[in-house]
Amino acid sequence: MTRFINWTAADLEKSDDWIFVLEPEVVDEIIEQSQRLAHLSTDLLSIDQSKFKLSENASNAFRQAIEKSQKDYSLALIRGFPADRLNEQEFRVACWGVGLYMGLVRPQNVAGDLITDVRNANTGKYRVVNGRGYNTNSELDFHIDSGDVVLLFCRREAKSGGQSLVANPFTVAQHLLEEDPRNEVFLKHQYPFSLGGFKVDSKEHYMSPLLEDEPGRSAFRINIKNIINGSIQSGITVPQEYMDFLYKFQNLAGSAPFCYRMYLKQGDIQILSNFRTIHSRTAFEDYEEPDMKRHLIRLWLCLSNSQPLPESWRTPYANIEPGALRGGYRVEVDPRYHDFAKKQCQALGIRV
Ligand SMILES: [Fe+2]
Repeated sequence: MTRFINWTAADLEKSDDWIFVLEPEVVDEIIEQSQRLAHLSTDLLSIDQSKFKLSENASNAFRQAIEKSQKDYSLALIRGFPADRLNEQEFRVACWGVGLYMGLVRPQNVAGDLITDVRNANTGKYRVVNGRGYNTNSELDFHIDSGDVVLLFCRREAKSGGQSLVANPFTVAQHLLEEDPRNEVFLKHQYPFSLGGFKVDSKEHYMSPLLEDEPGRSAFRINIKNIINGSIQSGITVPQEYMDFLYKFQNLAGSAPFCYRMYLKQGDIQILSNFRTIHSRTAFEDYEEPDMKRHLIRLWLCLSNSQPLPESWRTPYANIEPGALRGGYRVEVDPRYHDFAKKQCQALGIRV
């Protein structure tokens, strides 16, 4: 019997109802607003919906994609964002601007950044305690981000590699349970997850199972790098057979028929639920010219139509109620964020 939302890569390949193409009029609006506000690209908190104005038609296009990410495959793709017609500053403003109509931006790192550049900064520090993958060119472990959804806006593609991988963790879990019902023990084990450099109640880690399958609240979490770091930080050993299971799960998630592989093209916006999909990326090679290097802009958004979460998600998300203000790093942010967030929550209907 199928216990979970059971789609595979083949379902995504067969259907295109999760792909949205922007109409030319919508693209023109975005270009106009972004060029007009480009001088504010380093002061994005000063841009709200009253400054970055989108028509009902344009804002609907983005809202539809967000709605899609909360049902069916728990993801969506928008095509035709005008990456080729905007310079870097304008593009940054465009990402921020359309984000205002989808959700509330949440902090993505210990510095409290509300918008981040996903590109190789040659730090080479992914597989270390508090290392982050988004500023390296490394292959990443399957993981989730924080925020209800993660959005990647593609500005420049890699010379080679950098393939985006998405899997439905519930289908993988279902497969493993059919293979051996005793795998439930591994899926429900309490693993120490690192908080990735920030602290909650002076703790650097929290305990969580991979799988939570309470109806209506189902959510899945995996990140081998964070579990290894959480184990180091907490002193809690993860027995070898549990580690073996994590790698087995990750390898399955990355293989057919579970893994959907795609190259994000210039102008694509990928939207993924952090509760019902897991994602990864293959290693990549860049072009030599600085402005040709792979470059994505990332937003973590809190949504008004988000699902309720299981109790074990309270520490990392702060709030498990549906449609509530939650997710992201709980760190110090630009003091203006407080007022900005209040206005955004009001405009979008996010519960504070
Ligand atoms: Fe990620």
